[in-house]
Amino acid sequence: MSLQKLDIYSLRNIERASIEPSSTINLITGENGSGKSSLLEAIFVLGRARSFRATNIKQVIQFDKNELIISAQLIHKTGQSYHLGIQFSGKSCDIRINQQNSRKAELAYSLPVLLIHPKSYKLLDAGPQIRREFLDWGVFNYEDEFLVFWRKYKKALQQRNSLLKAKNTKQINVWNTELVQYGTIVSNYRKEYLQKLKPVFLEISQYFLNFKNIEFKYLAGWEDTVSFTDVLVNELGKDLKYGYTHSGPHRCDFQLTVDGRLAKDFVSRGQLKLLMLSLKLAQVKLINIEKNNTVCVLIDDLTAELDTPNKAKLLNYLLVLNCQVFMSTTELENFGDLTNLTSYKVFHVEHGQIELIKNT
Ligand SMILES: Nc1ncnc2c1ncn2[C@@H]1O[C@H](COP(=O)(O)OP(=O)(O)O)[C@@H](O)[C@H]1O
Ligand SMILES: [Mg+2]
Repeated sequence: MSLQKLDIYSLRNIERASIEPSSTINLITGENGSGKSSLLEAIFVLGRARSFRATNIKQVIQFDKNELIISAQLIHKTGQSYHLGIQFSGKSCDIRINQQNSRKAELAYSLPVLLIHPKSYKLLDAGPQIRREFLDWGVFNYEDEFLVFWRKYKKALQQRNSLLKAKNTKQINVWNTELVQYGTIVSNYRKEYLQKLKPVFLEISQYFLNFKNIEFKYLAGWEDTVSFTDVLVNELGKDLKYGYTHSGPHRCDFQLTVDGRLAKDFVSRGQLKLLMLSLKLAQVKLINIEKNNTVCVLIDDLTAELDTPNKAKLLNYLLVLNCQVFMSTTELENFGDLTNLTSYKVFHVEHGQIELIKNT
């Protein structure tokens, strides 16, 4: 899919904007504080119904305004047009797909957005939460059934944790059974997804880096020598003591090793960024080749941090990926050599006003 027309009202310093983006590469320029990230944030909010930089959506609504609205006309890979709209007031969130009230998950399927920003290198460096989110976004877009089972697992986990907190072990076995049933499905989906992602990732990482021996290690969230059922039984004492379930798919993680060593412990920060980039682009490519959809890629402020050869490589790769991209940086020069780009648009942002300044 790609956004053909995007309208933004009252989002941060963007009071009102309407753009017709390129279906391929869109370059966003403007001084610090002009509203570049806000433009990307608008697209992210439209696809995910949340912000990537504010925990409370209220912060995203323009000061002195009661609500923000983002709407877009999109065209699917199949040629079908559709309309998405989201309206946030401080209290409510209304989602419309083709004028019909819809849910967040439907929105996310209608506009899959992937964000890469300067903090994304933490993917391989920080705690497991960010890797679980990475993994689950991929599985969600790859495996239609995943969300149903993940929700069932989460519900069973909440129930079990409530019993643990109340020190009530009477019904614990009922929830253990549910946890194992849905947790196994969730875990298998993730494992299969990682296996699918691996060759795509390896190909892209070879393009950016020349590491030879890269491996993924999937960590299910419990010790792999023991069954999940046994873990729940063995750890009941500990779980009761602390009032929560210590092991399970909610603790899953993955590791990336290069020549048998954990990547995060010895590759340079620049290389870590390229590994992260390869992982994220692999997700985009996997959806492109295996699903009847394409991803909208948002790249905020990253190119200024890449060296010249890698900037060129990134642009070339994005062209080959053939999906819609929005990239921001302060100066057009920061994007690197644009001579290979045949068709793209440049938008300049100033005080929240967005202007098309180049259309090739
Ligand atoms: N809720 C808000 N209402 C109005 N302006 C805001 C709000 N939140 C942030 N801003 C302002 O919006 C401007 C644009 O920020 P941002 O999009 O991050 O700029 P850029 O990415 O171009 O550096 C900033 O000057 C910031 O002070
Ligand atoms: Mg910014």
